[in-house]
This record gives sequence, C-alpha cells and structure tokens, in this order.
Amino acid sequence: MANRRTPRRNAYVRSVGRFLPERRMTNREFEDMVDTTDEWIVTRTGIRERRILEPGLGSSYMAVRAARECLERAGASPEEVDVIIVGTVTPDMLFPATACLVQKEIGASRAWGFDLSAGCSAFVFALTTGAQMIEAGRYDKVLVIGSDVMSTIIDYEDRNTCVLFGDAAGAALLEPCPEEGYGVLDFVQYVDGAGGDFLHMKAGGSKRPASCETVKNKEHFVYQEGRQVFRHAVIEMANVSAEILERNRLTGDDVALFIPHQANLRIIEASANRMKIDRSKVIVNIDRYANTTAGTIPLCLYQAVVEENRVRKGDYLVMSAFGAGFTWGSALLRWWE
Ligand code: COA
Repeated sequence: MANRRTPRRNAYVRSVGRFLPERRMTNREFEDMVDTTDEWIVTRTGIRERRILEPGLGSSYMAVRAARECLERAGASPEEVDVIIVGTVTPDMLFPATACLVQKEIGASRAWGFDLSAGCSAFVFALTTGAQMIEAGRYDKVLVIGSDVMSTIIDYEDRNTCVLFGDAAGAALLEPCPEEGYGVLDFVQYVDGAGGDFLHMKAGGSKRPASCETVKNKEHFVYQEGRQVFRHAVIEMANVSAEILERNRLTGDDVALFIPHQANLRIIEASANRMKIDRSKVIVNIDRYANTTAGTIPLCLYQAVVEENRVRKGDYLVMSAFGAGFTWGSALLRWWE
C-alpha cells in the first residue's frame, strides 16, 4: 500500500488527441527484408501492420499534432497549458527536451515541462505524474503526451525486433475533476533496474558516446532479449493489473475498460485473464499499430473515447504498461465527462 493516498482534488482526462503517420507497413514487407513470415508475426505477436513516420520528422512532429488535436477537442487554447510532459525514448535530440520543442511549436507560452523516460510505461508514468501536480493544487492544465518514432532506433536487418514496433503519438489533457470520486483514482508503479540488461540501447549516451565504431556495431538500435522481456512482462503486467483492482476492492466485472500496453497479444491476454475481465472490455489495436512504446496507451484511450465512443461517466478504466527499465505500472480512472 506504499502509494496509497487520499486525493484532495483528482485529475481527470478532459480530452485526448493522437497522431498516426500515414505510411502503413505490412508484415508482408518484412518477408523481403528478413527471414520471417506474416504468419509467424501474427501468431507470435498479434501484429499485422504498423505505421512508419517519414524520415527526418522526429517525435516532436507527432507530439505537436497529437497535442493540437487534444487541445482542440477540449476547446482549450495553448496559452492555458501549465505543464507539458512528454514520454519518449526517441526524443528529437538528447537536449533540449522534446517537451520544449512541443511548447514552442504549439505556442504554449505559459507552460514549462520536461521529458519522461520510462520506455513503454512512459505514458502511464507521465499521466500519474501530471495527475499528482493537479492533486497538489498547483496546476490546472497538464498536457501529457506519449510519442515515439521507433523506426529510427530499429535495426531492419534484425528479425527479432524489427517486426515488433511502429511510430505514433497520443496526448491527454488533465484538469481538476469538477466532481469528487472521479478522475485518476489510484496508481501502482514499479521499476527494476536489473531488467536493463534485457532491453536497452548500447551507445549514444554519456557512457558510450556515438563513434564510428558504435555505428558500425549497430549499437544505436534497440537491443532486446525478447524471451526474457516477455517472461517478465507477462508476469508483472498481469500482477500489477490485479493489484490495482484488489487494493481498490474492485473485480474485473466492475471495470468497463482495460487499456493495456500493446507489446504482444499474448501479454495482453495474460493480463486480462489475471484480472478476470471479459475480452470484449479489452482495447486491442496491436494488429494495426504494433508496439508504439509511449504511444500505445493514449492510442487505445483515443480509440475507446473518440472512435468507439464507448466510455461513460462513472466507468472504471484500468491502464497497465510494462517496458524498458524494467518499468511497469497500472492506473485506475473513473471517467468523468
Ligand atoms: N520471424 C521468424 N522467426 C523469428 C522472428 C521473426 N520475426 N523473431 C524471432 N524469431 C525466432 C527466434 O529466432 C527463435 O528462433 P530459435 O528458436 O531458432 O532461436 C524463435 O523465433 C522463437 O523465439 P522466441 O523468442 O522464443 O519467440 P517468442 O514466442 O518469445 O516471441 C517475441 C518472440 C519477441 C515476439 C516475444 O518474446 C515478445 O513479444 N517479447 C516481448 C517483447 C516486448 O514486449 N518488448 C517491448 C517491451 S514491452
């Protein structure tokens, strides 16, 4: 119960936005690039296609577009935004933060902000961080964004990783909830640095700066021991999803929607089974977008709220993620609108 607290004023998700690159890359295209098949990819991961951003644009390009849609949907102007938090492992550059680039581009003249690095858990971590800023009473509009251009850090000659990822961004605007008992109610989050060995980028940071050698060795790409990551993800994402329910005395039947990180359909199904939640309540779009890292959860939220219009006032939503670090966590929301 380490994270348990009594919120003074909850944050709620006022609106959402997203950006999807136009270019669709199907599994079939990989068959000409590496030793793989559409059938292997679909059965082992659930992925059928992913979106790929045009080279040279960067995470801020997508984040800005997701943010603009989010603000438009809320009828809010950029000048009203207090804080911008961008979850990403593919910032435009190491510094300045992508949040600063977004701030300038959307014209959020009063906002401050920062990037949050938590791999695939970045959006959940950013959302709960922003929610706490609102709970503390200091800010009224926190823009939370997840944006990753995974295609820029993937080795398209490595069949173990290249088929798994895609590019996208999503955004949510957090505001103080007008009514008690709604909004972001609770969260549980963890890191285990021992997991870093299994999923990381070997070079490009201060310990091993970019050099001809690091480029030649392909050390600027995602390094992943897929089986190890899978083993941990399938256990921890299921555990944390069950934990958030138990500590709030809820069951899978009470939950209207489960919004899981989209890394592998088998991990999603294991978490849903552990929560004893009906498959019809689980948002899945991994088939269309693959693993977009910080983008998966806001893309799912957008699908539920905007595309499918299936979220109602009072609905319980659980978001769960697992990613590099290792990082993992769940957030419990009760929808208000
Ligand atoms: N096409 C064909 N075969 C492939 C392949 C591909 N794209 N990728 C891997 N394989 C092969 C492997 O080389 C291995 O061959 P081997 O047995 O001869 O060594 C075989 O398939 C089985 O590999 P394995 O790792 O056991 O498969 P898996 O069922 O675990 O699925 C992943 C592989 C990567 C899909 C799975 O481990 C996974 O999803 N991991 C988590 C990834 C993730 O979530 N990462 C992001 C952080 S959340």
